[in-house]
Parts: sequence; structure tokens; C-alpha cells
Amino acid sequence: MMNLQKEGAISFETDGAFYNPKMLLNRDIGVAMARALSLTEYLDALSASGIRGMRMAKEAGIPAVTLNDVSPAACELIGRNLKRNELSCEAVCSNANVLLHQRHFQTVDLDPFGSPSSYLSAASRSALSYLFITATDTAPLCGAHYYSGVRKYMARPLRTDYHREMGARILLGLAARELARLDKAMQPVLTHVTDHYVRTYLRLSKSAKAADKCLESMGYVEHCPACGSFALLHEPRPKGSCEYCFGKTILAGPLWLGKIQDAEIIRRARTELVSSARAGKLLQNCECEVDAPMYYDHHSICERLNITPGKIDEVIEALTMSGYKASRTHFCGLAIKTDAPLCSVEEAVKTA
Ligand SMILES: C[S@@+](CC[C@H](N)C(=O)[O-])C[C@H]1O[C@@H](n2cnc3c(N)ncnc32)[C@H](O)[C@@H]1O
Ligand SMILES: [Zn+2]
Repeated sequence: MMNLQKEGAISFETDGAFYNPKMLLNRDIGVAMARALSLTEYLDALSASGIRGMRMAKEAGIPAVTLNDVSPAACELIGRNLKRNELSCEAVCSNANVLLHQRHFQTVDLDPFGSPSSYLSAASRSALSYLFITATDTAPLCGAHYYSGVRKYMARPLRTDYHREMGARILLGLAARELARLDKAMQPVLTHVTDHYVRTYLRLSKSAKAADKCLESMGYVEHCPACGSFALLHEPRPKGSCEYCFGKTILAGPLWLGKIQDAEIIRRARTELVSSARAGKLLQNCECEVDAPMYYDHHSICERLNITPGKIDEVIEALTMSGYKASRTHFCGLAIKTDAPLCSVEEAVKTA
């Protein structure tokens, strides 16, 4: 019997291709971002059933949408799904890396099984205005599978309290370097880590000068596992020991230390969201988080100080009153995102 699904404004079959209903939020936000950015051309490079690209065509009204998948069964399915929804998108049955080397697209979206790293080079070449990336290999990105992370992302990941942001910034770091090789610069407009995936939306510009400037946002994190403090470095020259507890530090990176959210675009996307409370809350959190890489875990700090946790919002207020940037973050409900050093965060935690 035919397996008919409904998602957003699309009815579609899924037999013969992969479909993950848990990625609904990812696709809902994708549609809202496409509307906020007024996209004119879009390639869903790894389409499976075609649901993502079809929603982009129908709900975001993108006039030129291409759906590609290497699997002939998926391509047949995409053809049937396009017909069912009376959509005139282009369907291509090709290896994504071949297609990405053959043609340019204003927007390229990568949503592979696991790591996008093997497509990033070709996608960076093909994409002219925007590159959207999903990575579901959070274990390598966030430091749980160290060697796999090093191989896939040419960076040392680290499993820390802020591993979710570490993963996002390692992915962004590889994208920045792939693009820079082609004299392209990136500006992340939205980055979120949800469930077990990282998702980022990058605006691109072609300019060697802008690419040089972009690479200035690359760097490293020197982390102390003993006390949880960290320092941001632009060169791989760690001090080797922690300035607070004198413990031995570890270096993570290279990774992206630049901005990861564009509040204005995210606010616009939020107004474009169709009935998704969870997505709305997520975008609101992303919009409001301060531009300060990584974060501290409130409970970890309290555990080390041997005190009962008070209210996070009061810690954030105390830090703000002391002149620091501070906010919550979508990465973790127990986190304090701030440019304050650990000693000031500890003071604020004690007084809150
Ligand atoms: C995770 S699924 C895509 C899901 C889809 N974007 C969605 O939102 O439902 C990954 C797809 O990539 C396809 N694929 C794997 N390797 C590929 C390649 N080298 N080129 C093109 N498609 C590929 C698989 O056939 C599979 O359908
Ligand atoms: Zn330390």
C-alpha cells in the first residue's frame, strides 16, 4: 500500500526514499528563512522524497527549485511527488558533487546522511548567494568521536560543557575555509543545534578581500577541564596551563569565532513561521543570544562551588549590571552565554 504523508502544504509519497518526520522543525525553519531572505533559486542537493525542496517551492514561493538525488528510486518518487503537488520544479538524478561542479545555484542546501563534509567543497563552488547546511554527525563534531571529527572537519573537537556550540563552530570553521579557497566569504545568518543535528544558514559574497577578513574570525579555544574556564585564541599558541587553577589546558579548533546569528533576519524569519510554537521559541532564543562564543553551564559551576543553583536570569542580570554581555542560549537551557571571564561568572552565580 502507498505510504502517503502530509507535511506543510505538501502531500507526498515516501516509499523508496528516506523521510524523517523528526526533521519537521528543521524544514519549517528552512521555509521561514527562505521567505525572510526572498530566495529566487534553490537546489536541494540531497532530496530523498523531495519534501524539503517542494516545500521551498510551494510555501516560500521560490520560482526556480531543483531537486537532486543520486538514487534512481528517489528520483522516480520525486517525479511522482512533483506531479501530485502540481509543481514544476526541476528533478535531477545525479551525484550531488557532479551536479555542484557542473552548475551554479543562488542557494545550495545540503541535508545529507551524517556529515556534509564530503559535499562542502563542491557546494562552496556552486553556491552564489547562500549555503544552507545540516550535519547530523554531532558525535564527531562535538568531540564524542574525536578522530572522526579530526578527519571530517580538519579540526580538533573537544567534549566540554559547551560541546553543542563547539560542534556548530567546527562545522562553520570548515565552511569558512572551504569558501575562502575560492575567494568567497561567509556571514552566518542563523545557526542552531537542535536534537541531534547542527543547522546553519550562510550568506556568501565573492571577494578575496572579504574572504581574508572572514578568516580573521577563525581561531581556537583553550579549555581547562579542571575548572571549566576557557580562552579564545586567534593563533594556535596555548599557554598550556589554566590562569585560574593552573590545571593543564587542551586546545580545540580551528573553529569559527565570528558571529553566528543575524538578529534582524531571524526576527524577520520568525514573522514568516507558520504555526510552529517550538520553532518560534527556538528562533526567539537565537535572536536574543549575545555574540560571545561558547557558554558556561550554571549547574556545573554550582557543583564546583558546592552551592545550590539560584535563578539563571538573576546571574545574567548581575553580569549585565557589571558591564558584561550576557544572555541565555538556545544551545542549552542551563547555560549562561557571556563575554565575562569565569571568575566574574562565579561571582555572579554566588550573589544570584
Ligand atoms: C538525509 S537524506 C535527505 C533528506 C531530505 N533532504 C529531507 O529533508 O527529507 C539524504 C539523501 O541523499 C542521497 N544521497 C546520498 N549520496 C548522494 C550523492 N552523492 N549525491 C546525491 N544524493 C545522494 C540519498 O539517496 C538520500 O536520499
Ligand atoms: Zn582551570
